Amino acid sequence: MKILNVVGARPNFMKVAPIMEAYGKAPGIRPMLVHTGQHYDERMSDLFFRELGMPKPDINLEVGSGSHAKQTAEIMVRFEPVLLEHRPDAVLVVGDVNSTIACGMVAVKLGIKLIHVEAGLRSGDRSMPEEINRVLTDSISDLLFCTERSGMENLAREGVPPQRCHMVGNCMVDTLLKNIARARKSDVLQRFELAERGFVVVTLHRPSNVDDPAALARLLDVFEVIQKDLRIVFPVHPRTRQRLEQDALRQRVAAMANLHLLEPAGYLDFVRLCDASKLVLTDSGGIQEETTIMGVPCITLRDNTERSARTNSSATIRNGCSRPTGAC
Ligand code: UD1
Repeated sequence: MKILNVVGARPNFMKVAPIMEAYGKAPGIRPMLVHTGQHYDERMSDLFFRELGMPKPDINLEVGSGSHAKQTAEIMVRFEPVLLEHRPDAVLVVGDVNSTIACGMVAVKLGIKLIHVEAGLRSGDRSMPEEINRVLTDSISDLLFCTERSGMENLAREGVPPQRCHMVGNCMVDTLLKNIARARKSDVLQRFELAERGFVVVTLHRPSNVDDPAALARLLDVFEVIQKDLRIVFPVHPRTRQRLEQDALRQRVAAMANLHLLEPAGYLDFVRLCDASKLVLTDSGGIQEETTIMGVPCITLRDNTERSARTNSSATIRNGCSRPTGAC
């Protein structure tokens, strides 16, 4: 059986890494790896392949950035000939990024079975591009693999036949558990002169937080208060970097002596930073789960989360932000 696996953006890499490894123990499966190139910077992509020991992609579509329509369409146009040439038995997509839905749509329209890993998560917030990608990908997938019980329940509520849905666990957490000992050997604390539990980690990249200057300014208000007592380490996503470079915000950031903006961190350094921090503030979905496993308190800087409060209790006690961003 030939399975073509798709990665596109940073959070996909740690989800696909253990799947690629597992194929090594399944001689009947011939895997292929396609990178759409949605993320392309060394620090957003190649570094993760090296650190996670992933095979080089068989094909890179090199789509790069663009508006949602342009990026999604470009991935589809470039992915179709790959499927026509290689004719896999199934296409496997993970998560909720534009590459996920774009490649999923191309596959099903060519009559190729579609597998979605991390199916069923719902924030209920249709203004999030990822929520649209999740709902659409699940609705066209043949096999839906869920990371948590709420995913199974959401799919059942949406009428997805139960024989298609499987509770399989969380492969991003598999990657974390496999690599945490290595991450603890990272010298990132020494490089940035950080003391264990003496700092806060921040990550931000959601359009709702960073594309609206007023929302971003409100978050800077919060950081301004925190950094008076604790150093803040902020590996900055390229999208957020662009926003913070606007004049008024740049001056505010520069005035905060204890707010340290870093380049996007590699996987091992980032895990080490979270693991040694006092608190993590993030709008990422995956980091809510990773900090839960590490036992590090985390506040989710969003009005909602697709990681459920009921079935993911340790995450939500520490992470679940039931109040609006302003209240956090
Ligand atoms: C994407 C995903 C989001 C995921 C996030 C993780 C969608 C809709 N969004 O958002 O779900 O949580 O990845 O990072 O798929 N850029 C670079 N270098 C890169 C990649 C991006 O400089 O390697 C810059 C570009 O200016 C680009 C911007 O970042 O326009 C945003 O990138 P994009 O892939 O559109 O979305 P993300 O915000 O990264």
